Amino acid sequence: MTAIDPQQSVRGAPTIRTIAMPADTNPAGDIFGGWLLGQMDLAAGAAAARRAKGRCATIAIDAMQFLKPVFVGDEVTLYAELVHVGRTSMKISVEAWRRSRESEDTEQVTRGLFTFVAIDAQRRPRPIDRPEPETDA
Ligand SMILES: CC(C)(COP(=O)(O)OP(=O)(O)OC[C@H]1O[C@@H](n2cnc3c(N)ncnc32)[C@H](O)[C@@H]1OP(=O)(O)O)[C@@H](O)C(=O)NCCC(=O)NCCS
Repeated sequence: MTAIDPQQSVRGAPTIRTIAMPADTNPAGDIFGGWLLGQMDLAAGAAAARRAKGRCATIAIDAMQFLKPVFVGDEVTLYAELVHVGRTSMKISVEAWRRSRESEDTEQVTRGLFTFVAIDAQRRPRPIDRPEPETDA
């Protein structure tokens, strides 16, 4: 199997690694795109929260591509890389790769560009290098 456009890959350390399970399938029995998109959103959200040091919300998903199918039992690895930091927003490039259980071969299955906005306790946009003030619990 070959990677799609390896020069453009954002693969560093994985942000999430999981196994595609029967509960994650569509009515045809293949892995549901919405599940995969959710995993990508989780990976991007982890990168965003880490950079913004606090709560963030997804505001846009662009350039989303489903390149290959994912099957039950596949190991799915999500890679997320921060590619731009604005005043309150961040762009995170995310890729998902699959590996079948019995193989060492991997292939890229998705890519997408996620935009997150750092938000405060009232869910308003918050400047990224201004941490959310601590509140009494
Ligand atoms: C996130 C949210 C608080 C932002 O509020 P807003 O008033 O729309 O934000 P603003 O217009 O001030 O823009 C905030 C930032 O997002 C960027 N932005 C706004 N719309 C965007 C879009 N469609 N694509 C990319 N970036 C966008 C702006 O450029 C700005 O970035 P900057 O500060 O780095 O320059 C609001 O849109 C919201 O609550 N959305 C729902 C989020 C959510 O529930 N996500 C989960 C979905 S299940």
